[in-house]
Amino acid sequence: MTDGVEGADPDSHPDGERLQKVLARVGLGSRRICEDLIAEERVRVNGEIAELGRRVHPGTDLVEVDGAPIGIRPGLVHYLLNKPSGVVTTASDPQGRPTVIELVPAEPRVFPVGRLDLDTEGLLLLTNDGELANRVAHPSHGVDKEYLAEVEGEPSRATLRRLREGIDLDDGRTAPAQANLVGPGLVRLTIHEGRNRQVRRMLDAVGHPVVRLIRTRIGPLADRRLAPGSWRALTQDELRALEAAVAASGSGTGPPKADR
Ligand code: URA
Repeated sequence: MTDGVEGADPDSHPDGERLQKVLARVGLGSRRICEDLIAEERVRVNGEIAELGRRVHPGTDLVEVDGAPIGIRPGLVHYLLNKPSGVVTTASDPQGRPTVIELVPAEPRVFPVGRLDLDTEGLLLLTNDGELANRVAHPSHGVDKEYLAEVEGEPSRATLRRLREGIDLDDGRTAPAQANLVGPGLVRLTIHEGRNRQVRRMLDAVGHPVVRLIRTRIGPLADRRLAPGSWRALTQDELRALEAAVAASGSGTGPPKADR
């Protein structure tokens, strides 16, 4: 059993290394933040919830945070955030509005993968894994994003068909999408393009302006129980599924578009 932590010296202490030190070294945050992860019972050692003060042998003990072995990608972190409305998807904001970066651990520094509008809520991926971020954000990979839009009025079947077939926007026709009415004035729209304010513009164009917009899925990533403003690390399975989704299509060598 191994967590694959690199550079650790398991012999440096006969009882192993302090867990928070090991977590900090693989990039999960400062030791203080890692102590919080342990206190929040999010860390398991060999399948059991770890307690503060626990020592581990990084070469032999399996250490997991939120179900993901820490050694999968040493130093790389992948967070799923439920962005609330009124938070900007940038690292800093000249107008002093809250940013998504302030909602996740400060260390290691991460960046958002794509963007959600100020008023858009829902799932946003943040990572320091530039390669994966590039591939996820690149439209050629076809990682689809699902949105729940509360709209003005009641879209007809013909309108839903137009949304599915493509809408002529000022930057060209949209690619085929999935569009379904899932409640009164509630449209579920799934797209994989990365255009600026695309969902709002598509629904504007068919005469049903968006009242509220929530991103509910990014490729294989969804989490209905993640509260607004909360984040969690991706599990190992989620990371694998995301990598499989981006590997399934496209080359990803060109520049990614803004993911809106
Ligand atoms: N489409 C939009 O119009 N806004 C977003 O924030 C995301 C997708």
